[in-house]
Formats: sequence, C-alpha cells, structure tokens
Amino acid sequence: MNEQRQRLEQCKVRFDFADTPLHWVPGEAEASHIMNTLHILLPAGEFWFCRVYNRALPLVTDEHLREDVRGFIKQEAQHARAHDSALTPYLVRHGIDPKSFTKRLDWLFEKALCDYPLGENQPSRLLQNWWLRQRVGLIAAVEHFTCVLGDWIISTRSLDAADPVMLDLLRWHGAEEVEHRCVAHDLHVHLGGSILMRWLYMLIAADDAPGPDDPLPPGLLKLWYELGKRDVLPAMGGIGRSVLRYFLPGFHPRSEGNIEVALDYLQHSPAAQRAAAAEALRG
Ligand SMILES: [Fe+2]
Ligand SMILES: [Fe+2]
Repeated sequence: MNEQRQRLEQCKVRFDFADTPLHWVPGEAEASHIMNTLHILLPAGEFWFCRVYNRALPLVTDEHLREDVRGFIKQEAQHARAHDSALTPYLVRHGIDPKSFTKRLDWLFEKALCDYPLGENQPSRLLQNWWLRQRVGLIAAVEHFTCVLGDWIISTRSLDAADPVMLDLLRWHGAEEVEHRCVAHDLHVHLGGSILMRWLYMLIAADDAPGPDDPLPPGLLKLWYELGKRDVLPAMGGIGRSVLRYFLPGFHPRSEGNIEVALDYLQHSPAAQRAAAAEALRG
C-alpha cells in the first residue's frame, strides 16, 4: 500500500506556452526535442491508464487502495490534459505537426490495448479479467519509468536555466509521478499479479519503443548517452540500474524517488500555486 498515506489530489494546473521557445533548454536543441515528444506520447498513454484503471476499480477490495486508485486516475487525467494543452498552441505554432505520431498512438491505445482488441465476442468476454490484469501489469512497469524520470527532472539542476513554464509542467508532472509511485505496483499485486508477470511486463515496457514499423531513429541511443552525461537528459546508466532494481524479488516502489523533494515541489510549483489560488477563489 501507499505507506505515506497522503491523499492523492488532482491539481487543476494551467500553462501558457505563448512565450516558450521551441528549444526551451537553452543551447540544447536535441534535449528540448526529445522531451517535447512527451506532449505527443503522454496524453494518449495516460488517458489509456485512466480507462484501464476505471475498469479495475470495481475489483479493488481494499478501501485505501481504492482511494489511491481514484486519486491516481484523477492525477493521470490532469497530466494528459496538461501535455495536450502544449500540443496545438506550442508544437503546432512551432511548425511541428504531431498527427502522424498521434494516429499511431491512437491505434495502439484505442485498438490494440482496448478492452476488446479482438472484438466483443464470447471468448473475449471470458478473458476480460485476465486481459485487465495484463494491462495493469504493463502499467506498473511503465509507472516505474515515470517515477524514475520524474525523480530525475525534479532533482537535476542542469535544467534550471530552461524556460520556466515548460520546466514547471515537467517538474509538476514528475513530482506527482513520484508522489503516486506505489499505486500501480500495489494494484498489480492486489489483483493477483505475480513476480513473473512483473518481470515479463518490464521486459515488454523496456523494449516497447522500437518495432519493425517504428524503429528508434538512428543514433538516438548514442545521442541520449551524450546528453545524459551532461545531465540534460536522465543518464542511461541510471535508467539501466532502475530496471535492474525492478527485477529484485523484494522490490517495492516506496524506495524509489525522493518523496520529500517531490512534495516540496508540489507545494512550490508556480502552476500548482495558481491552481490553489483559483480553487480558493471558487471557495
Ligand atoms: Fe502522469
Ligand atoms: Fe503516473
């Protein structure tokens, strides 16, 4: 369970990217572009998390976990909306048309990973709970990465000179990923997920980006390695070690990330403070 037992709240943040340059990390065009892909990838993926978890919610018999899952769904929906809000006014304004990517992602999350990828027939109905557990296992593995990457973005000092609005979006999101880092793992275990499933879905999640129709751009890994050495992207060694930790039999996400730094950021994030002030005005 989420041992901190802090309630997971949705924060209705808003961001204005009108003055955000395309290369929002000064002098780091590649790092800016790589992180900008999150605005394309995350809305589709995080709304999918919400759909899967809404399906799982009636199966949760532990009251605290149910509350955590509800909080998780609200937070992920807000993350998806926040990144989506960067798509049109920011990426499109800078001449980047995300449609070819979003089309493929929509196919992945709305067709291949939907409730009935093979049609709503009798065998599919019988396999519904099994299929739900597989997707919950996959989300747990992905959430391990979001916690690790979130912890990096709230901790690194190498991005302090970056555009403050974009940095706040990524740090606010990263901090909430660290805050809710236990929920996906706890749900996976609660629904009967085994350690073997955990390992299997980490192997899939760690390998899911490249494929025959969607190979990694040539040289990306080498570029990432170089950017990681300058700490303008998370270092590959750190990501690799985090994957190894996930395979340890006693693994639990409560020992991942720095929860104090995350909660402190959520207190001081400019967007979170604006949202709290707006909420207070609404009374
Ligand atoms: Fe998220
Ligand atoms: Fe998350």
